[in-house]
Amino acid sequence: MTNIHQIQKEQREKIEITVKHLLSVVPSSRMPQLAVICGSGLSGLSETLKEPIVLDYKTIPNFSTNTVAGHSGKLVFGFLQNIPTVCMVGRFHFYEGHSLFNVTFPVRVFAKLGVKAMVVTNAAGGLNPNFNTGDIMIIKDHINMPGLAGNNPLIGVNHDDFGPRFPALTDAYDDEMSNIMQQSARKCGLTSNVIRSGVYCFVAGVKDLWFVDKAEARMLKSFGGDAVGMSTVPEVIIARHCGIRVVGLSLITNKVITEEKSDIPKPTHEEVLQASQNRARDMQGLVHEFAGLLKTQTFMM
Ligand SMILES: *[C@@H]1O[C@H](CO)[C@@H](O)[C@H](O)[C@H]1NC(C)=O
Ligand SMILES: *[C@@H]1O[C@H](CO)[C@@H](O)[C@H](O)[C@H]1NC(C)=O
Repeated sequence: MTNIHQIQKEQREKIEITVKHLLSVVPSSRMPQLAVICGSGLSGLSETLKEPIVLDYKTIPNFSTNTVAGHSGKLVFGFLQNIPTVCMVGRFHFYEGHSLFNVTFPVRVFAKLGVKAMVVTNAAGGLNPNFNTGDIMIIKDHINMPGLAGNNPLIGVNHDDFGPRFPALTDAYDDEMSNIMQQSARKCGLTSNVIRSGVYCFVAGVKDLWFVDKAEARMLKSFGGDAVGMSTVPEVIIARHCGIRVVGLSLITNKVITEEKSDIPKPTHEEVLQASQNRARDMQGLVHEFAGLLKTQTFMM
């Protein structure tokens, strides 16, 4: 029996139970205004939070648990530059078999807790030939390959009190927050040949690393994609649906092979983790600086 209204009711109850639990274990002074989703190898971001309250996903009702190497699963509530913040350490990927509702579930919970702005980070393969391993790309737009093919997290009955049936995604990545990120990068001494701006392509996986063939990679590049990865876009869509403002960062961990004959060695998961480790501290500094500048913006308070 697949009654869509029944599914909607279950989804609502599921969100409410989790929200109620978090309200009971996290003091109200800690209710987050800012959320940070930590991508592969970027969990160090959560360690910069002051006065952390760490909750293992296993202890949070209705949270999925995740499996990928390089990801642990916990929410960390704390202060980033005095802004009450929640860090999501370890995200749920579509390729692991989680439904898109489950992948984006934490974002809906964050919205109910009062989150107004979100920083999403990920590790991604570089399609743009000018990008190097270790570059940080500020996401200016995305291409949602699974979404175009029918796997969009907003498919189903609309949760009207979260947002409209057809939310506008033309401003998915907030210009003002992206500018603040650029400013933060300059303050951190990250130059324009490290800080890039570009279009992130979301693919579901699962094959080779970044899970695209050479012909597919050429296609994504010709569509205007600068980087490709397997996360982020579902969370961004739900965040925008809930009215949360978003800024996104991709750490370029390898160059994606697009030519038939190429000297670029095949990427490995170890290579991705290594590149993340090398640049992770810069990313932490960047997000920290960003929070400091964001604090002065009216929409946070
Ligand atoms: C949500 O969590 C509650 C409490 O642990 C549980 O009773 C309920 O079955 C869960 N809902 C879903 C859809 O898993
Ligand atoms: C979604 O999450 C619930 C736990 O909240 C779990 O019981 C269920 O199997 C998950 N389903 C999918 C397809 O991810």
